[in-house]
Amino acid sequence: MTTSATRALFERLPRLADLVPFAVLADGLPTPVEQLDTRLWVQHEELTSSVYGGNKVRKFEFVFPVAERRGGPLVTAGGIGSHHVLAAAIHAGRLGLDIDAVLYNQPRSEDVARTQAALEQLDNVRVTRVPSPYLMPAAIATRMAALATKRPYLLWPGASTPLGTLGYVSAAVELANAFEEHGWRRPDVVVVPLGSGGTAVGTALGLAMAGWDDTDVVAVRAADLVVTNRAVVGALEASTAALLALAGWRPRSTSLRIDRHWFGGTYGKPTRAGDEAMRIANDMGMILEPTYTAKAFAAALDQLGRGKRVAFIQTFAGT
Ligand SMILES: Cc1ncc(COP(=O)(O)O)c(C=O)c1O
Repeated sequence: MTTSATRALFERLPRLADLVPFAVLADGLPTPVEQLDTRLWVQHEELTSSVYGGNKVRKFEFVFPVAERRGGPLVTAGGIGSHHVLAAAIHAGRLGLDIDAVLYNQPRSEDVARTQAALEQLDNVRVTRVPSPYLMPAAIATRMAALATKRPYLLWPGASTPLGTLGYVSAAVELANAFEEHGWRRPDVVVVPLGSGGTAVGTALGLAMAGWDDTDVVAVRAADLVVTNRAVVGALEASTAALLALAGWRPRSTSLRIDRHWFGGTYGKPTRAGDEAMRIANDMGMILEPTYTAKAFAAALDQLGRGKRVAFIQTFAGT
């Protein structure tokens, strides 16, 4: 595996490259940032990788080298249509690693069916099914214990650890670079989906690093409050900032705001606003899915309607 590709974060904070694990997995960086309308931009994160894009691979670049050193399977979890588990299986497979996944039920949709079918095609995945997300921690602990002699690696669901979150700090630095290169005035808000938190927290830290003090990050909550809340996001931000501080960055406050209005009460359940946003996105040439990106884009359209200049982070790889 090569470790030599540059990343926008390493260019901005060169000492970091000597301090954190890193392996090149994404071949589409920097992703294109496109102006869709006078006040609307999109960062095309579906193009992070030609193998399987979306937001996960940026996090894996900082996490998988540790798993690779251990050599055993990566134990992780997600819903039955989890993009995280599919992305993990595809990219871990490239390194010759297996995935041991705990999957819990979520509402079925075309996207869930497609993701499940794609996962079934892979031969490096072993699945344990549990009926509810609340049984996930115990199931993960059981699998970790069962695999103990093989040196398993706990791949935190969503890869939203401080290391994984560095991937999104870098993505936000790319976003800021793109605005500067094009001479665009900064947006008022950057809208991202919020699941395990790495995308939103990394984006907020990266924009703080780039000095975007007048831009809010609107993190559109798409998971249950017990999973994703101010405390979880705050802890992830503090611990990721601590890593960046090791490399000489003096942490600055971020303006990350959680928007809970688009969730719809149940993880993975489509909403009317999300469905409408998906249709509008489709007309603009963007393919979204109902669990995360449709809800986030509904929030982005709402911000546009309020007269804001909006950058939307398109995190869905497509299936
Ligand atoms: C398409 C998509 N967007 C966004 C997210 C949420 O990102 P994060 O877990 O970093 O909050 C996910 C999580 O699985 C996802 O699949």
